[in-house]
Amino acid sequence: MVATLRLPFANGRPNTGGMRILFLGDVMGRGGRQAVAERLPGLRRDWRLDFVVVNGENATGGRGLSTEHAKGLLEAGADVITLGDHAFDQKDMLRFCEAEPRIIRPLNYSKSAPGTGARVFEATRGRKVLVAQVLGQVFMSRPYDDPFSALEPVLKAHPPGGAVAASLIDIHCEATSEKMGVGHFCDGRASIVVGTHTHVPTADATILPRGTAFQSDAGMCGDYDSVIGMQKDEPLRRFVTGMPGGRFTPAMEEVTLCGLYVETDDRTGLASRVEMVRQGGRLSQTGPA
Ligand SMILES: [Fe+2]
Ligand SMILES: [Fe+2]
Repeated sequence: MVATLRLPFANGRPNTGGMRILFLGDVMGRGGRQAVAERLPGLRRDWRLDFVVVNGENATGGRGLSTEHAKGLLEAGADVITLGDHAFDQKDMLRFCEAEPRIIRPLNYSKSAPGTGARVFEATRGRKVLVAQVLGQVFMSRPYDDPFSALEPVLKAHPPGGAVAASLIDIHCEATSEKMGVGHFCDGRASIVVGTHTHVPTADATILPRGTAFQSDAGMCGDYDSVIGMQKDEPLRRFVTGMPGGRFTPAMEEVTLCGLYVETDDRTGLASRVEMVRQGGRLSQTGPA
């Protein structure tokens, strides 16, 4: 069993019989950070959220997450920040993820990685929430360890509806097939399994047969007039010419906050409602309201 951390947003809320949890996908650069800072406090209030998890692996210039920008996401209303394959692109995260327990890096990033890949947090009304992240193996740039065997002991130690009221697994990988595999592996054993890394929301939000809310990819919090969040000129040039060259720079226009909204049942710890979230910017709009 991992240690429990009480969170600053864990204030008194009416008893709804369950939790309202928001997950926001990869925050992309300054535009993504600003949009989270401007809009997340309102979403927390309007949707009466009990718990918010934000993926921050691209929040600093599209590459990793600095200490300063991690603090900004936490101040904006993230209870927990997950990372990904870009976890340590900003070198100060090597130390900050040890100092700040609300940062979760992938369980299977490396045996010598600092920080932790799973932790239990205390949310509203003393309810406990497990957050964990794993990297997939298919089409990834490095040969990470098997995510299924990394998850197994974590799932076994934290059955939903037991000591933890809810649990969220962020599966960070390229292949939709692998994400769906992780979803079914966790079905009935976690409240939420949500994919990150590909930066485009998939239209498959659902509650799996044994009660786990699932979406293959949450999408990014970024400007979709881009190539997965980067200004489109340089990626297009590389695709067309096949030659490396200039720098990738995060696109900075209208940001769509993308993610997943889930309501859980405190008795079972499983999902009772799931809604895709796309708020603001260019994409078609959706959410729980
Ligand atoms: Fe990634
Ligand atoms: Fe990403």
